[in-house]
Amino acid sequence: MSAQSSQSSNSLRIGICGLGTVGAGTLVLLQDNSAEIALRLGQAIEVVHAATRTLDKERRALLESCGVQQSGTDPFAVVNDPQVQIVVETMGGFDPAFEVVKQALSNGKHVVTANKALLAERGNELFPIAEANNVILAFESSVAGGIPIIKALREGLAANQIDWLAGIINGTANFIMTEMAAKQRDFADVLKQAQELGYAEADPTFDVEGIDAAHKLTIMGSIAFGIPLSFDKTYTEGISNITPEDISYASDLGYCIKHLGIARKTAKGVEMRVHPTLLSKSRLLANVNGVGNAILVHGNAVGATLYSGPGAGAAATASAVVADLIDIGRQLASGSDTPVYPALGYRTLRDDLPILSVEDIESEYYLRIPAVDKIGVMAKITRILQEHDISIEAVIQKEAISEFVPIIILTHQAAEKQLNHAISALEALDVVVGSINRIRVEPFHDEMD
Ligand code: HSE
Repeated sequence: MSAQSSQSSNSLRIGICGLGTVGAGTLVLLQDNSAEIALRLGQAIEVVHAATRTLDKERRALLESCGVQQSGTDPFAVVNDPQVQIVVETMGGFDPAFEVVKQALSNGKHVVTANKALLAERGNELFPIAEANNVILAFESSVAGGIPIIKALREGLAANQIDWLAGIINGTANFIMTEMAAKQRDFADVLKQAQELGYAEADPTFDVEGIDAAHKLTIMGSIAFGIPLSFDKTYTEGISNITPEDISYASDLGYCIKHLGIARKTAKGVEMRVHPTLLSKSRLLANVNGVGNAILVHGNAVGATLYSGPGAGAAATASAVVADLIDIGRQLASGSDTPVYPALGYRTLRDDLPILSVEDIESEYYLRIPAVDKIGVMAKITRILQEHDISIEAVIQKEAISEFVPIIILTHQAAEKQLNHAISALEALDVVVGSINRIRVEPFHDEMD
C-alpha cells in the first residue's frame, strides 16, 4: 500500500480540503467523538492540515478549537503534505476538486470524498488512478448522507443479483415536497429554509432539477449492477413542474408524490431514472418525510431491504465521512497491501448491460389534462388513449379552474414511447387547452409491505 501507510505514528493523520457544511461537520464530529473513535480504531484520528477557500474568523476559531496544527487556503498544500495519510475532500464541484483528488491519489494518499458530482461524472477516470496507486478512494458520504448505503450495496448484499433499487435520495427535494403537501407552503419559501438548514447544494437547482439525485443514483446503479458510472445516460427530471394541484389530486386518489431515483435491471438492459413519482400512501417510501432519505433495494436472494435516515446536514454526512476514515485506518492497521473492497464492489465491471433510454421503459402514468368543459370531451380523450393501446385505471374530472377543467387519468402499465405519442395527439385536440402534466406511477409489486 502507499508509502505513507508504512510510517509509524500513534495517530491516523488526515488533511481536510474544504470547510463548508460537511468539512466543518467532520472536524466537529472528530472532536466530539474522539474517545469513541479511538476505541473503535485502536488509534486517534488527528487532523494535521486543513485548507479552506475562505479562512475567516469563524473558521480560524473552529480550527483552533479542534486543535488543527496547520491551515491555509491551498488544498494542494494539504495533498502534498508528507505528514498527511488520508485526504478528506469536502470542497464539492469539479474545479479544483478533480485535480486535488487526482494529485492526492497519485501521491499515494487515500482519499475520502463526499463529492457525488465528481464521482458520478469523473469517477471513471479517478477510480483507476486510485487502483494504480494501490490506495482507497472512499465515498460513503456521497450518497444519502448518513445512511450506509454504499456499504450495504457493496458488502452487505454482495451475494445478490440486485433486481432494482428505488430511493428518496435528495433531502432538499423531499423536504420541499413534504412541506408543500402538509402545509400548502410556497416552493420558494421552503427552498430558502432548506438552504438555511445546510441541506441544499451550493447551486440549489441541482436539488430541485434532480441533478444531485441523478449523481447519487449513478453511483448506486454502478455498485448495484457492476456497470461503469453512467451519469450522462441517467434520465433526470426535477420537481419544479409539480403543482400544489397535482399533490392534492394525487392525494384524492390515494397517492403521494415523491422524487425518486430508480435503477432496475430488465431483460432489455438497465433503467436509470430520476423523476417525481406517484406512490400509494400505504408504501414505506411514501412515509419518508422531511429531509429523510430512504432506499429500497431488492436482491434476488434477500428480497426487499430498506435503508432510511437523514440524507443531508452537517453531522449526518460527517458520520459517513468519519466511518470511511475509520475503515481506511483499519485497512492500514491490517498491514495488507491491497484494498479489501474494489471501489465499486466488482473486480471486473460489466460491459454487456446497456442503459436504456427513458423512451424504452414501461410504467403506469398519472396525466393531468387541461380540457374545455363541453359534452364529448371525455370520449375524445379516451378514444385517443385506446388508439394508442393505453388502458385506463381511473379517471376523474375536477372542478373547473377558470375556463377549463382538469381531467385526471391514471393509466395501467404502458410503454413510454406509446404514451408520448398519445400525449402529442391529446395536446393536438381542440378541446385540450394547454400542456398535459405526466407523472410516472410506481406500484412496487414486489415491495415488502
Ligand atoms: N443537497 C443534498 C440533499 C445534500 O439535499 O440531499 C446531500 O447530498
